[in-house]
Amino acid sequence: MSLQNCSMILKCGLILLSLHTLVPKTFGNDTENLKAFIDLTEFSYAEKCEHVANEKWKFIYNPQNETLLYAWEEAQKDYAALKKHEVEALQNNSHTELTDDFVEYQYNTQIKPGDALLDTSKLDQLISFSVKATFLEMGANQTSNTRQEIEQLLSSNVDLERKQSAWTQWHRRLSPLLTDFSSTLSFVSEAATANGIDSVEGYWEFLSVYPGGYESIQSMWGSIAELHNKVVTFVKNRLAEKCKVKLHDDGIPAYCLGSLDGNDWTPLASDVLPYGNVTYSIKKKLWDKNLRGKLAYRSASAIGHTVLHEVPHASFWENSRFNQSCVTRFLNFCYKGTRVTTCHHASLTNFLTAHKVVAKVLTSQMGLVGIEKLPFLNSANRYSGFEEGISELFSILSVSPAQLQTLGLVSNDTDTDHSQITSLMITALDVLPRLAYYISADVWRINVIKNGTFEPKVLLETWWQYRKQYEGVTSDHTDIPTFLDDEFIASNKPYLSKFLGTLLGFQIYEYMNEGRSEVRYNNVVNNHVNSYIINATRESASDNWTTMINKYLEITEVNADALLSYFQPLVEYLDNEPEDMYSMTTDQQSDIERLEKLYASSDVTTTARTTTTRMSKPKLLKPSSEKINSSSLSPPAATPIVPEKEKEGTVKRPNGKIIPESEKPANAPNGENEYTSDINTSKAVWAVAAVLVATVAICVIAIFGRRRCVKSQTPKNRRYV
Ligand SMILES: *[C@@H]1O[C@H](CO)[C@@H](O)[C@H](O)[C@H]1NC(C)=O
Ligand SMILES: *[C@@H]1O[C@H](CO)[C@@H](O)[C@H](O)[C@H]1NC(C)=O
Ligand SMILES: *[C@@H]1O[C@H](CO)[C@@H](O)[C@H](O)[C@H]1NC(C)=O
Ligand SMILES: *[C@@H]1O[C@H](CO)[C@@H](O)[C@H](O)[C@H]1NC(C)=O
Ligand SMILES: *[C@@H]1O[C@H](CO)[C@@H](O)[C@H](O)[C@H]1NC(C)=O
Ligand SMILES: *[C@@H]1O[C@H](CO)[C@@H](O)[C@H](O)[C@H]1NC(C)=O
Ligand SMILES: *[C@@H]1O[C@H](CO)[C@@H](O)[C@H](O)[C@H]1NC(C)=O
Ligand SMILES: *[C@@H]1O[C@H](CO)[C@@H](O)[C@H](O)[C@H]1NC(C)=O
Ligand SMILES: *[C@@H]1O[C@H](CO)[C@@H](O)[C@H](O)[C@H]1NC(C)=O
Ligand SMILES: *[C@@H]1O[C@H](CO)[C@@H](O)[C@H](O)[C@H]1NC(C)=O
Ligand SMILES: *[C@@H]1O[C@H](CO)[C@@H](O)[C@H](O)[C@H]1NC(C)=O
Repeated sequence: MSLQNCSMILKCGLILLSLHTLVPKTFGNDTENLKAFIDLTEFSYAEKCEHVANEKWKFIYNPQNETLLYAWEEAQKDYAALKKHEVEALQNNSHTELTDDFVEYQYNTQIKPGDALLDTSKLDQLISFSVKATFLEMGANQTSNTRQEIEQLLSSNVDLERKQSAWTQWHRRLSPLLTDFSSTLSFVSEAATANGIDSVEGYWEFLSVYPGGYESIQSMWGSIAELHNKVVTFVKNRLAEKCKVKLHDDGIPAYCLGSLDGNDWTPLASDVLPYGNVTYSIKKKLWDKNLRGKLAYRSASAIGHTVLHEVPHASFWENSRFNQSCVTRFLNFCYKGTRVTTCHHASLTNFLTAHKVVAKVLTSQMGLVGIEKLPFLNSANRYSGFEEGISELFSILSVSPAQLQTLGLVSNDTDTDHSQITSLMITALDVLPRLAYYISADVWRINVIKNGTFEPKVLLETWWQYRKQYEGVTSDHTDIPTFLDDEFIASNKPYLSKFLGTLLGFQIYEYMNEGRSEVRYNNVVNNHVNSYIINATRESASDNWTTMINKYLEITEVNADALLSYFQPLVEYLDNEPEDMYSMTTDQQSDIERLEKLYASSDVTTTARTTTTRMSKPKLLKPSSEKINSSSLSPPAATPIVPEKEKEGTVKRPNGKIIPESEKPANAPNGENEYTSDINTSKAVWAVAAVLVATVAICVIAIFGRRRCVKSQTPKNRRYV
C-alpha cells in the first residue's frame, strides 16, 4: 500500500471527499494529534508487513532457492528496523498526557514493540537464526524425503523401526543449529530489558497482554493435568502393541505420535478412537463428500458465516493454494497477505486445520473496521489470546456431534453415545497434547534462561525432561533437538497466548450455549448471530483483548472450567474402563488406503473429476437467478455441504462483476454469503482508502512538520539503525 496505488479514480475521489471533512477535525486536540500520528505508523507497518508476507510466500514456493530465503530475511530485518525507527519518532514527538485508554494502549504497542528493540546485531542474529531454522524445518536442504513424506510415513502403518529412523534422521539434521540457539535464546532477557521489563515471564506476559499469565496457566494446568493424564494413559494403552509402549512404561515414544512434532495427536485417530465403525465412517466420508482442499475451507467458512457473519474475502480464495503439500502453511500476519497453502487430501487433521485457519482469516478481516481502530500495530507487536480462542472455537464446532451428522460424516442411526465419545476424543487428541506442549515449551525456556544453563547438552536433557513431565512424551535418545523444528521456539515467541486462547475457546463455546446446556452437544450454535462476539472480534484486533473479552463476553479471566466441563462426559467414560471398544477392521483400514490411492491418482490425471464418485445425493448449487430463500443466519447444520463444481458457469454479482461459480462459498444458501462478502470487501476498501485519506490529510496539514511526512511517503529501502 502506498500513495502510488492511488491510481484508482475511486480512491482519489474518496481522498478529496474526505479531505474536505477531515481537515477541520484534525486540528487542535493533543490526543487526536497523537492518534493521527500513531495511525501514520500503522500505515507504515502495514506496508512493510505486506512486503515480509510476499517474500515469505515466494520462499515457501521455492524453498530450495536461497536467494529467496535471504530476500525474506532482509524483509524481516527491514520490518524490525521500521519498528525501531517508529519508537524513536514517537519519543521525539510525543509530549501528550495520555487520557484515552485506547490511545494509551496503542501508544504502548508502538513504543514497546518487543524483540525489535534488541540491539541491532543481536536482532539480526535472531532473525537469521529463525530463518535458517525454518529453511531446515521445511526440509529445503534435504535431498531424500520431504517433510510431507516423513509425516505420511509416521502416521501410516509401517513398522516402528522405520518410523523411528525417519523421525530421528529428520531432527538430527537440525543439530548443527544448537550452539546458535543457545545464544539466541539468551536474547529474551535482553529484549525484556529493552522493553523496560525485568523478567522473562513478565516480558512474555506483557507481549501476550495478560499480566500474571504464567502463574495462572501453571495453576490451570494443575487442574487439567489429571484429564490430560487420563487421555495419555488411554492412548498409551491403545497404542501399547503398535508402539511397544510397554518398554517405555513412563511415556509414549515421540516418533510414534504420527507427526514430527508430536503435539497434535489427531493423526492417531484410526488407532486410538474407541469405536472403529464411527472412525471408519468419518474417515471414509471425508473422502466421499470431498471435504478436502478448498472444500474443507468452504465448509469452515459456513461456520464463520453462522458465528461471525463473515466469510473469507475473495482475495483469500484467489491467493491461496489448495493442491500443494500437506504441510499446511498459513500467512495471516498482514491484512492483504492472508493466504494458505495446503493439500487436496482428506484427513481429520486437515479438516480441523481448515477450521482454525478460516477462523484466523476472519478475525484478521474483521479487525479492519475503519480508520478509528487500525489493527496493524497490535497484530505485529502483541500476541492475541482472543484470536487463538476463536480459532479453537471453530475447531470444537467442526467436529461436534451435530456437525459430524450434518455433514454426513456419521450416519443418523449411529449410537449417540458412540458419536459423542468419538467427537470428544477427537477434540481431546487435538487440544490436550497441544496444551501440554505449549506450557512445557514456555516453562522450559523460562527456566533455561533463569538457570543460565545454555550448554547444548543440558538444553537437550532438560527439554526431554520437560516433555516427559508435561506431555508424557519420551525419546530413546535425548540428543534429538525437536525444539529446533518449531518456528515459534526458533524465533523466541511465547506460547502463552496460545495456551490461554485454547482455554478461551471453550469459554466462548460455553458463552454461546448459555442456558442451553441440555442440548450442549447437539447444538452447533444459537440460531442467531451474536453481536457481542462480533464486536469483541472487531475490537480485540486493535485493542487490549483481555479488556474486550471482559467488556463483551463478561469473561473476567481465562480459566479451565469450561474446558473441564466440556470434557466431563469423556472423563466419566474413561473412568468406567470402557469394555465395548473395538478398532477399525483391517478391511476398513485397507478401504481407506484404497480411497487415498484412488483419489490421489485421480487428482493427478484430472482435477476436474473430484466430485464424481459416490456422493450421496449431492445438492448442487443452483444458479443464483433461481434463488432459494432460506435464512442466511441458519447454522451450518441447515445447509449441507455442497460439492464444488469446478469449471462451472459463472454468476453475476449484484454489482455486475462476473465471478466464477466456484468462487461461491460452498453452502451459500442463496448467494447471501456472496453479498456479505461483497459488503465486507467494500468496507475494507473504505478502510484502506480512509488510511490513505488520513495520510494525505495529515500531511497536508503538516501538524508534525514536513519532515515526518516526507519520510513516510518515500520508499524505505534503507535501514534506520
Ligand atoms: C480530545 O478530543 C476527544 C474526542 O474528540 C475528547 O474525548 C477528549 O476529551 C479531548 N481531549 C482534550 C484534552 O481536549
Ligand atoms: C531464485 O530466485 C531468484 C529471484 O526470483 C531468481 O532470480 C533465481 O534465478 C532463482 N534461483 C534459482 C536457482 O532458481
Ligand atoms: C529524534 O530526535 C533526535 C534528536 O533530536 C534526532 O537525532 C533523531 O533523528 C530523531 N529521530 C526521529 C526518528 O525522528
Ligand atoms: C544447504 O546445504 C548446502 C550444501 O550442503 C550448504 O552449503 C548450505 O549452507 C546449506 N544452507 C543452509 C541454509 O543451511
Ligand atoms: C460395524 O459395522 C458393520 C457393517 O455395518 C457391522 O456388521 C458390525 O456389526 C459393526 N460393528 C459393531 C461393533 O457395531
Ligand atoms: C493447483 O491448482 C492451480 C490452480 O487451481 C493449478 O494451476 C495447478 O496446476 C495445480 N497444481 C497441481 C500440482 O495440481
Ligand atoms: C440426518 O439428520 C440430518 C439432521 O438432523 C438430516 O438433515 C438428514 O436428512 C438426516 N439423514 C437421514 C438419512 O435421515
Ligand atoms: C532449573 O533449575 C531448577 C532448580 O535447580 C531445576 O529443577 C530445573 O530443572 C532447571 N531447569 C532447566 C530448564 O534447566
Ligand atoms: C457492536 O458494535 C456496533 C457498531 O459499533 C454497535 O452498533 C452495537 O451496538 C454493538 N453491539 C453490542 C452488543 O455491543
Ligand atoms: C489489558 O487489560 C487488562 C484487564 O483489563 C489489564 O490488566 C492490562 O493491564 C491491560 N493491558 C494493557 C497493556 O493495557
Ligand atoms: C421465499 O420468499 C417468499 C417471499 O419473500 C415467500 O413467499 C416464500 O415462502 C419464501 N420461500 C421459502 C422457501 O422460505
